[in-house]
Formats: sequence, structure tokens, C-alpha cells
Amino acid sequence: QPKAFLFDLDGVIVDTAHFHYQAWRRLANEKLGFDISEEFNESLKGVSRTESLDRILAHGNVALNPAEKEALATLKNDWYVELINKMTPDDILPGINEFLAKTRLAGIKIGLGSVSKNAKPILERIGILNAFDAIIDGTKITKGKPDPEVFLKGAEELGASPDQCVVFEDAVAGIEAGRRAGMKTVGIGQPDILTEADVVLANLNNLTIEDLQKALHF
Ligand code: G6P
Ligand code: MG
Repeated sequence: QPKAFLFDLDGVIVDTAHFHYQAWRRLANEKLGFDISEEFNESLKGVSRTESLDRILAHGNVALNPAEKEALATLKNDWYVELINKMTPDDILPGINEFLAKTRLAGIKIGLGSVSKNAKPILERIGILNAFDAIIDGTKITKGKPDPEVFLKGAEELGASPDQCVVFEDAVAGIEAGRRAGMKTVGIGQPDILTEADVVLANLNNLTIEDLQKALHF
């Protein structure tokens, strides 16, 4: 029986992955003079703010000094915050509230494992901050995904060993982080993108704890 479920935030609990892309794309278009595709954006999912900017700059062959990079990262975040400030509890993705309730009922701990420094304000806005027994976000870690740090810290805070944990992720880097932590992984999205996940689902709609345990061989 699993002891803890660790959820990524952006793209798993809320559709903010789309807002991150929108804000980065606006930055590339308006400030850097090139475009970024949805396909390239897959490689940014789960990656920290500064690392994302570095990848975008490398992608467009643009070299900037640290102060210029800092200014662009801040601008992107300002645009991103504008988008998330419009969110409401209606923005929680389909099936999440029900699945969190089933998880709690089964006696399984619930943790958040996100690289985002905006994670807590987002959970507050959508009204589910209290659903989590532990919150590991970008303010508590030094290494972004695919490093396993964020999930290992989550397991530790929840008193679970890695083999008792399941990670829910929409990002390639996040699945890798979960695997490197020694945890079972559930990909939320497309099987052809999340090829390394133990199981891939389109969303958590109607998923039962029993079926999940079976699929993951618990
Ligand atoms: C998550 C998202 C990334 C984002 C990162 C940092 O991992 O998937 O797209 O870049 O968090 O988010 P932040 O809100 O701190 O800029
Ligand atoms: Mg994500």
C-alpha cells in the first residue's frame, strides 16, 4: 500500500503550464525577437525560472549578462502573476478534488512537489492549500527537476520511504525526477511524450485508488 502521493502543481492540479508558456512566449516575442513552439515548451515544463530562461536564450542564440537576465525573469514573472491572479477554484483540473478526497479517505498522505515559487499563492487562490500535508515548492529547494530533491524532501516530510511514494507529473523532467527519487510515477498527459512514466493517464477523472494500485503493482 502506498503511503504518500506527491503531486506536481503546474499542469497536474491547475492548467498553469499554459500560463507559463504564454508568459515565456510573450517575452521571446516582445523582448528577444523570436518565437517558441509548443514542442520546445515541453522541455521547459518542470524546469526552474532561471534555467527556463537560460534554455530559451540558448534556443534563440541570445547572450545576456546576469543583470539583463534577472530583469527578463522578473518581467516574465510579472506577466505570469497577472495571469494567475485571475484564477478561481473553477480552474482546478477535472477530477482533482475528488481524487484528493479519495486519497485522504484511503489514509494516504498528500504532498506537493513543485519547483515554482508561486505554488503557495496559487493553492490559496484556488482554495486547496489545506488539502496538503506537506508543501515543497521553489522556496525550499536548491535544485529543480529533473533533480529528485523536491520529491525526496516531500517524502521525508511525510515520513514515507521513496518506494512507498507515487509521483503525479505532466513534465518529462518531473517523471525523471520521480524515477531518480526511486518512486513510482504517473504521467498526466500523452503517452508518446511521457514515455518513462509507469502509467500515463489523460487526467485523474474517475480514477480509484484501487485501480491505481493495481496499475502500479502495489
Ligand atoms: C514549474 C513549472 C515551470 C516553471 C517553474 C518555476 O516547475 O512547470 O514551467 O518555470 O515551476 O515556476 P515559478 O513560478 O517559480 O517561475
Ligand atoms: Mg508540471
